[in-house]
Amino acid sequence: MEVKLSKLINIIPFKDYSNKRNKLVDKILLDLKLVGYVVVRGYEILKDLEETKSQFLELSKLIGDPVGHDLDNKIIWDIKSNSTSKSFIKTYSEHSHEAELHTDSQYSNYPEDFFSLLTLKKANCGGGISYILKLEDILTDLRALDNGKELEKILRETNFPFIVPNVFKKNKSENHEFNFGPILRDNEIRFRVDTFEKAINCDSSLCTMQQIDAYKALKNVVLNNTKTITFYLEEGDLIFINNKTTLHGRSMFTDENRHLLRIRMNKLTE
Ligand SMILES: [Fe+2]
Repeated sequence: MEVKLSKLINIIPFKDYSNKRNKLVDKILLDLKLVGYVVVRGYEILKDLEETKSQFLELSKLIGDPVGHDLDNKIIWDIKSNSTSKSFIKTYSEHSHEAELHTDSQYSNYPEDFFSLLTLKKANCGGGISYILKLEDILTDLRALDNGKELEKILRETNFPFIVPNVFKKNKSENHEFNFGPILRDNEIRFRVDTFEKAINCDSSLCTMQQIDAYKALKNVVLNNTKTITFYLEEGDLIFINNKTTLHGRSMFTDENRHLLRIRMNKLTE
């Protein structure tokens, strides 16, 4: 399927903020709050990967408190196609198929507030297009449905199951691990098609029919939304995303050299 690229994307040039670190941090924080994401274009990638990683971490620490990705508490995560992973539930960072619009860590007790991605190597196959969709645009379309109010109430007030991906399971010997919670909260959405649908396929009694209907209506609103922004993350693009108010995704890619770095963060306490 051909994806039409959007024109209006929130991009700021890194060079406009060279030697103005505080201004850059303020701008990123403001955009995370008001826009939901910001792309910092032309961020410097050094020849030394470790040095690039440590500068990326230093900047991210000014935006939020970095949090670990797995039980080993790895802070900087490499996003690369991992054809050797045999997990039943692979994370999107491990494969190269399309990643439909979702929020990260929707299965955890406290999904991170923000995350940043730095593109070291973009896919050179025409794939790997990024998608962004804001919660406010989802709610507008959901509320416009005949039974929108009723559906929103179910999504806010009942607990939905999310299956925990294998790499994040606390107890590896257990067959499946679930986390339960509402899909919508105040200024927050937790959404990913496969962690919900695989949970239901494992045990259909985890949800009522009304919940499944509400989920299906929301899925339709999310995956067929005309407000979805589509763009390429270029090499040297550093994107910060508000993981509570903004969904993200990417199209399939075949270039195995595509390489991004990710850091997850929670809001700094004042
Ligand atoms: Fe993701």
